[in-house]
Amino acid sequence: MEQSDFEINKHHWDARVDLHMVSELYNMPGFLKGETSLKPTEIKEVGSVVGKSLCHLQCHFGQDSISWARLGAQVTGVDFSPKAISAAKALNNELKMNVRFVESNVIEASSALKGETFDIVFTSYGTIGWLPDLKVWANEVFSLLKPGGVFYMIDFHPVVWMFNDELTEIGYSYFNIERIVEEISGSYADRSADIKTQSVGWNHPISEIIGALTEAGLKIEFMHEFGFSWYNVFADLIPREGGGFKHSKYGEKMPMMYSFKFRKP
Ligand SMILES: C[S@@+](CC[C@H](N)C(=O)[O-])C[C@H]1O[C@@H](n2cnc3c(N)ncnc32)[C@H](O)[C@@H]1O
Repeated sequence: MEQSDFEINKHHWDARVDLHMVSELYNMPGFLKGETSLKPTEIKEVGSVVGKSLCHLQCHFGQDSISWARLGAQVTGVDFSPKAISAAKALNNELKMNVRFVESNVIEASSALKGETFDIVFTSYGTIGWLPDLKVWANEVFSLLKPGGVFYMIDFHPVVWMFNDELTEIGYSYFNIERIVEEISGSYADRSADIKTQSVGWNHPISEIIGALTEAGLKIEFMHEFGFSWYNVFADLIPREGGGFKHSKYGEKMPMMYSFKFRKP
């Protein structure tokens, strides 16, 4: 039987959990000592989470979910990778935190959570590129929010995903017109890791993201674009004054990240 795209991607992510947990990028020693894994932009733009319920979609092995809980939120993390969810639960126990982790495809999250709704839905860095249909995803986000609740996302800019790995040539369409199948060696967290898997992704232009979320019924509060990346995950990035990384040749001239805040009326 042929594997579905979600199954191919689940295998891709399962295979990376162990190596991510010991990678420099995820800085587990610092995290265990109490350092946050969240970046200054999302901490500032989400604002206070004290006493709020927060659903973290595509939570990987849970560092950001636990970081929001450390800031006072009641957190539920959702991911479809069984390895990621079991690592997240183990981390939560080790740190004696109270985060709930649920294994589910993001497009089935509201039924996996039995219709529960949240003050905040959060997702970040490397998320919607794994989803073929943003309308389905946006309806799910809408269902997960309480009236008045906020959806916040921050991710790498679709302009960056147009380029080849070296960021030297346009390799893919900005528009969502193709299923992008790749054989990925290593990982963004450890380029030399001895691992090779197939993955399937989709590029989503900004207009598609805004269109899907507004059609689902959410109201946009802001969109921001950034010429740098908090993560050193693209070729030829160099440290930037003020933190994060910029391109060694293009500086901060091209968009590398965006953020959105939407609200459910
Ligand atoms: C780049 S990571 C998330 C990034 C997060 N900011 C981090 O670095 O910890 C992407 C995550 O999305 C999850 N994922 C991919 N497709 C998914 C889907 N359809 N449903 C749920 N989770 C999915 C993967 O298992 C992986 O844990």
